[in-house]
Amino acid sequence: MSRKNIVLIGFMGSGKSMVAKRLAEILERDAVSLDDLIEAKEGRPIKQIFAESGEAYFRGREKEAVKEVAGKESLVIDCGGGVVLNPQSMAKLKANGILIFLSATAETIYARVKDTKKRPLLNIKNSKARINELLKERQPLYAQADHTVITDNKTVDEACREIIAHLGHD
Ligand code: S3P
Repeated sequence: MSRKNIVLIGFMGSGKSMVAKRLAEILERDAVSLDDLIEAKEGRPIKQIFAESGEAYFRGREKEAVKEVAGKESLVIDCGGGVVLNPQSMAKLKANGILIFLSATAETIYARVKDTKKRPLLNIKNSKARINELLKERQPLYAQADHTVITDNKTVDEACREIIAHLGHD
């Protein structure tokens, strides 16, 4: 298998974090979460970064985190759902990685995220409408991926198997 990074992109709640961890285990690679990296550097959770410093500040930290990891090799990179908003970050991730889009319907996403409070963009009253809106906006950006894996009704292991099958054909 190539030493290119495996880069997981997709909406919040599409399963990136769990799939990244399991995929790294199966392939004996290191998994890196951009969100975890940002939180460690900032010494505060994403939710607090948004509340205290705003989304634009967070996007700046996200761009720096991409810069730090995209040039490395053989990683499984778990990206925050909004990484696709920055074309420079996407170019960096693509240059040295295979991009896998984990896709899920708005219904699945809502069911997966509704009881968690850690996602500031969805921690609002009408989160269902917001999910639909953001999904529509970002769909063309996620479509830049090399491969798409639908995660609705799939276990983490099933999603991993599908990703590995795609990688085998690259
Ligand atoms: C965001 C997704 C989150 C996190 C932040 C913003 C987004 O990551 O980076 O709350 O803009 O979609 P997950 O996709 O891992 O939830």
